[in-house]
Amino acid sequence: MFLFLSLLLTFSFLGVGQCQQNCSFNDLEKDIRQNYSIKLRPTKKAANPTNLNIDIRLYAIVNLDMSMQALTTFLWLNMYWKNDYLSWNSSQYCGITKLHVPYTDFWKPDLYIYEMIDGNSKPLVFPYFMLEYDGKVTEARPLRIVSTCKLDVFKFPFDTQTCNLTFGSYVYLDAEIVMGEIYNSSTVTQRSENILASKGEWKLLNIIVFNRTKYFSSGATFSEVRFRVSIQRVPLKYVNNLVVPAFLLVIADVFSMLIRSYEDRLVFKISVVLGFSVLLVILNTILPNSKSPPILGIFCCVCMGMMSFSTAGSVLTSYIVELSSKDCNVPKWMICLLKYLAPVVRVKPTITNKVETVISTDKDCYNSKKRELNLQPFHKRKNCSSPEEKVLRKILAEIVNIHNEWNMSNTKDDKWSEWDIAAAVIDRLIFIIYAFIVIILFIVVIIAWST
Ligand SMILES: *[C@@H]1O[C@H](CO)[C@@H](O)[C@H](O)[C@H]1NC(C)=O
Repeated sequence: MFLFLSLLLTFSFLGVGQCQQNCSFNDLEKDIRQNYSIKLRPTKKAANPTNLNIDIRLYAIVNLDMSMQALTTFLWLNMYWKNDYLSWNSSQYCGITKLHVPYTDFWKPDLYIYEMIDGNSKPLVFPYFMLEYDGKVTEARPLRIVSTCKLDVFKFPFDTQTCNLTFGSYVYLDAEIVMGEIYNSSTVTQRSENILASKGEWKLLNIIVFNRTKYFSSGATFSEVRFRVSIQRVPLKYVNNLVVPAFLLVIADVFSMLIRSYEDRLVFKISVVLGFSVLLVILNTILPNSKSPPILGIFCCVCMGMMSFSTAGSVLTSYIVELSSKDCNVPKWMICLLKYLAPVVRVKPTITNKVETVISTDKDCYNSKKRELNLQPFHKRKNCSSPEEKVLRKILAEIVNIHNEWNMSNTKDDKWSEWDIAAAVIDRLIFIIYAFIVIILFIVVIIAWST
């Protein structure tokens, strides 16, 4: 009996020492399973928390849906924890220190991303854990995350967004699972920048990582690791397709106020307003319904209002010009108003021209009358002159008469031009107000974007 036992012992000892037998993963896995196959939190003392260390590498910023306020990212997740029941002596297994095993038989932390809003998207799952001889269990897999993100679109399209990705356990309290980060912020940022694939609309600024404890009013506390991802929009697309056209349309509309013909101007303005409303529709589909509206939206809204205002002004001036063809006088209050407004809006040239012509014709009148008066004594003096002179004087009187009449008709023509001046003053006033507000808007928008 003793001999049999000792034989068994030596055989088994030899068996342990034999390298050929224990060099396969199968043997190792068999032994591991014999030692440990429970699916509860693998700690030898229940009071000891499991440290779950986590790291992410941002691989792609797939999309940031502005109206849904949802960020879609693709990242590589890497996490490890300690399994107290799991260890082997690598020298007994031909130096095997690592082993990949199907994860279904092992405990797995219930990692949850608090910002996740798309629960139905099936994550890619690689069904393996990597076990290490000292009990370290590592899980690595890619993740596609649709997470909610509070957007600040005030400076759109020159905006910077900060989105959180918070990882934590959904079930275990912080007494059971303590989350920790593997790398510090600068390393996480560097590692992500090294692999970041999508160089599309967003540029990665940095990732700040920190762990914290989340307190609920019920008294439950959870440990979590938060990755604060800051991304900056590459604004080229929106500058080309939205900002520049909007600015140009507004400038075109301002300068359309210089078109002389009111009918042509109205046609032009209406097409500009149509083009602008198309831009507004595009902007509306992009932007979210947020508390602080984007400055671009405010800009477009005010510009639309100013365009409508100036169009209405053009309609008014064309109506005033219309009035001039009807034979009615400019109301007195309007003339008073024009007197004050004309120098303010600097319609002077046209008015002074008119006035000058009126004055000059008056002067001519006066001169001619003077000449006539001057002629009188001459005429009287030469009353007893030759008949040739009499004829000449008659001809001269006729010419003066014709001249006076011509002048009179001229001043009659100037009567309807009062309406014209009124229209010009109102038109210029609207143009100045419009240009002034647009310039202020441009300055405000550019300051808002640049700060
Ligand atoms: C982050 O970690 C790296 C190495 O892991 C180290 O060189 C660097 O100084 C750390 N940065 C900070 C801010 O702690």
